[in-house]
Amino acid sequence: KNYFIGIDLGGTKISTAISDVEGNVKAQSTVATDAKDGEIPVLNRIISTVEKVLEESKISLDEVEAIGIGSPGPLDAKSGVIITTPNLPFKNFNLVAPIREKFNVPVFLDNDANVAAIGEFMFGAGKGTENMVYMTVSTGVGGGAVLNGKIYRGNTCNALEIGHTTVAADGPRCNCGNIGCLEATSSGTSIGKRGKEACLTKVETSLKNYDEVTSYEVFVEAAKGDEVAKDIIDNALNYLGIGVANMVSTFDPEVVIIGGGVSKAGDIVFETVRKVVNKRCFKNMAESCRIVPAGLGADAGVIGALGLAIMESK
Ligand code: BGC
Ligand code: NA
Ligand code: ZN
Repeated sequence: KNYFIGIDLGGTKISTAISDVEGNVKAQSTVATDAKDGEIPVLNRIISTVEKVLEESKISLDEVEAIGIGSPGPLDAKSGVIITTPNLPFKNFNLVAPIREKFNVPVFLDNDANVAAIGEFMFGAGKGTENMVYMTVSTGVGGGAVLNGKIYRGNTCNALEIGHTTVAADGPRCNCGNIGCLEATSSGTSIGKRGKEACLTKVETSLKNYDEVTSYEVFVEAAKGDEVAKDIIDNALNYLGIGVANMVSTFDPEVVIIGGGVSKAGDIVFETVRKVVNKRCFKNMAESCRIVPAGLGADAGVIGALGLAIMESK
């Protein structure tokens, strides 16, 4: 059996690909998650993307060794259950069982950021390293670590839920219910939220249209010199820097790879994070750690899900 299927399950889209053991993609299918439709419709959409990539690649199911799935957590990888997660309809839902039943091949589930870490380690910016941390900064903030050449899962497979580490003890409330989480200070969603809040105040700002403000607009206006937007971005990226610095001091990695929508803002992100890391970490550790964008870009999740299937089948 020479082929593998990877599924990247996100709050906005489901992306599925089929590849050989080297991760060369033979077909890919992406559909909207439409999470509001509930558990079963989303499950059915996942199944339909798998059928689509099989059909398009003309690879028969008998040739498929395993399926890998990356999903936001927290989840129970051993039983295949997604426990709960703000942007998906699954609540204590066993996602693995119905997919395994349908296709009759081994199915592996892991946290989306762990899976992206595996992808970057096998095929992306972490290739050739032994110790690396991956962070995604998008709707949510997540992380994954490869240590001594192996993905580090922790006791319950939820290691590096770094979006929910506290970086601002009196900071904003997070979707998880806690206060001051990295996700609440630095996710794309939180930057957009600060932008919207700015629209409602009387201060002079080019952030005007409440309904249209997203993190993207805040980045654009900040780059144009709007002081309010600049403050929002500065604040978010400084906390992101604290989050990264904590990873550097904890794991002493060769590289921290940052992916997700916010990382696409480019230099401003990497320069600010670098400054904070240099300020807060021991000099030799800071200097020997590279901080770089995801090598697989937006495909880190789906390539990582393929990587999970390949890795678990060895
Ligand atoms: C979830 C993580 C996930 C991250 C990125 C967070 O809100 O708790 O499990 O990795 O979002 O999707
Ligand atoms: Na993780
Ligand atoms: Zn949180």
